[in-house]
Amino acid sequence: MNILIKTADGSNTLFNDQIGEHYHSAHGALQESRHVFIEAGLKHSLITNQDKEELNVLEIGFGTGLNFLLSFAHCHEIKTRLNYKAIEAFPLSSEILESTAYSEYVSPYIWQSFINGYEKAIHATQQLSEYCCLEIFHGTFQQFNTDQKFDVLYYDAFSVRHQPELWTNEIIAHACNFLNKGGIFVTYAITGNLKRAIKSCGFEIEKLQGAPGKREMLRAKKIV
Ligand SMILES: C[S@@+](CC[C@H](N)C(=O)[O-])C[C@H]1O[C@@H](n2cnc3c(N)ncnc32)[C@H](O)[C@@H]1O
Repeated sequence: MNILIKTADGSNTLFNDQIGEHYHSAHGALQESRHVFIEAGLKHSLITNQDKEELNVLEIGFGTGLNFLLSFAHCHEIKTRLNYKAIEAFPLSSEILESTAYSEYVSPYIWQSFINGYEKAIHATQQLSEYCCLEIFHGTFQQFNTDQKFDVLYYDAFSVRHQPELWTNEIIAHACNFLNKGGIFVTYAITGNLKRAIKSCGFEIEKLQGAPGKREMLRAKKIV
């Protein structure tokens, strides 16, 4: 069961009582999403690939859609096309998404486009706006495969303590495989094992300051 709770920055998250973990940092869901995925991931990729007219993002663990919403809002604002693919083993209902009150962090247009297209995106790619397409693969990341390559990968699985099967060398290599050369892998977590696993897939590692309340996070760039 998922229980809605307020995090330290005033934004909501869900607590999954089977896994025993929150969907976002209890120090601040909104802060974490902005810091790790938007600033260190999406915006960094846009700055380093200024010649690109569109951005292909892959997210592992769509959950409430907060990372997607903030990505959609930013790309809409700067008029850059966003093709967003996400993987989610246990999609939430639209009612649960609406209960998060994440509508407060984006314009009514972005929010309505998201809510109108969300459930349909679990079955087929949805054009949510002139600048944004969303597709959600309903299944596990272990089952997921595609020939498509992405510019940015948001790795937002539950932590290694609660879901070790999503942090093995094999599954990290599976994720790395979906990035273009120059592509960016970002996650809120950082461990010695994770760094070694990503490096061995031909990535350059950066240890960045973590979101408020967390010391460090990881960003990696595919160099071969
Ligand atoms: C930390 S939460 C992600 C939070 C999400 N990015 C958000 O903004 O709400 C992890 C997500 O991974 C999903 N998940 C769990 N096991 C999975 C698996 N094997 N493959 C894909 N998704 C999985 C969970 O249902 C949950 O939605």
